[in-house]
Amino acid sequence: MKSIVNPSGFASVSLTSLYLAAERARESAHPQALINDPMASYLAEGKGFEILKQVMSFSEHSQLVPWTGIRTKELDEYVSDCIIDKGISQVVILACGCDTRPFRLKFPDSVAQNVSWFLTDLSPVVSEVSGAISSKLAESGELLCQNFKKVEYHPLDLRETASWENFVSTSGFDSSLPSIVVLEGLLEYIPYPGVCNIMNNARSFLMCEGSFICGTATNMATIKPHPAAVPLVNLMQFFKDMGAEPVFGTNDPLADILCSNGFEATHMICSCDKEIVEPILRGSEEVIAQLKRFLRTKEEGITEIVSYIPMNFLWFGGKGITKKEIEKEEP
Ligand SMILES: C[S@@+](CC[C@H](N)C(=O)[O-])C[C@H]1O[C@@H](n2cnc3c(N)ncnc32)[C@H](O)[C@@H]1O
Repeated sequence: MKSIVNPSGFASVSLTSLYLAAERARESAHPQALINDPMASYLAEGKGFEILKQVMSFSEHSQLVPWTGIRTKELDEYVSDCIIDKGISQVVILACGCDTRPFRLKFPDSVAQNVSWFLTDLSPVVSEVSGAISSKLAESGELLCQNFKKVEYHPLDLRETASWENFVSTSGFDSSLPSIVVLEGLLEYIPYPGVCNIMNNARSFLMCEGSFICGTATNMATIKPHPAAVPLVNLMQFFKDMGAEPVFGTNDPLADILCSNGFEATHMICSCDKEIVEPILRGSEEVIAQLKRFLRTKEEGITEIVSYIPMNFLWFGGKGITKKEIEKEEP
């Protein structure tokens, strides 16, 4: 079978989006899958699976904790809650890569028809992925996407303020309506001043009061691994060699990503939290026992982090929302 997404349109960090599609495909195929991403294996075909194979070769433990599955499931649920419970009708996926959230999430038709999806990434990525998806839809004749008001791909280079301006003026995005913005899998590749620029632009261009934002971050121990953590050192070197060097890590994403950039932070999830990971550990009893030693409960805090363990943080917040959310929960 031929590779559908042409990897020549993908350079450096963009290659990691093919790898993540492969991770979602791997998770979707697992007997205890946390997610079902019907487009993932199609988009990962060829280059994405090739990178996944190399990543898996660095650690025999790489299948034990389904990091990508956890993150995808939690962010999917948050986006769904924003749409269903909070009535948000505009979703902006920044640096979407091969993520296909609108093809994965299902809503009642009466809800879906009011929802507009804006999927954005660098121009070559957007044209490759949207082209591949269009041909898949045409070829399969299946209804892989619900009847949303809009599902559109737009180029948006997050480093360029002019590109944000161009997105807002040409995409049909309505700046007066609250939105949910998703920023998944990118920040670790951006030096911290650039992270702050992206967050500030997201806040000012895409988020009126009552908007929500969520995303991922990686802990410091992953970005600068302990030399004894050989598999992690090798994995980081592999990404560096691919042109995707992880440079930004944080052990306090709510402070560093949200609060420092003028957002209200509501909560975070850490992929090492005991209650998140323990129920879905998969693998041999012996290795699971080893891994369990590193699991933390939320009460133990987030600053005391075991240096060998790569971790994903999921962070959640918004603009002008915390007070409203708290008021809503009060009797
Ligand atoms: C690790 S991938 C994550 C893709 C997707 N969000 C996911 O979770 O599967 C990082 C993505 O960031 C995109 N990216 C890198 N630099 C960017 C920039 N300056 N502006 C917009 N997107 C960028 C890449 O093209 C790539 O698709």
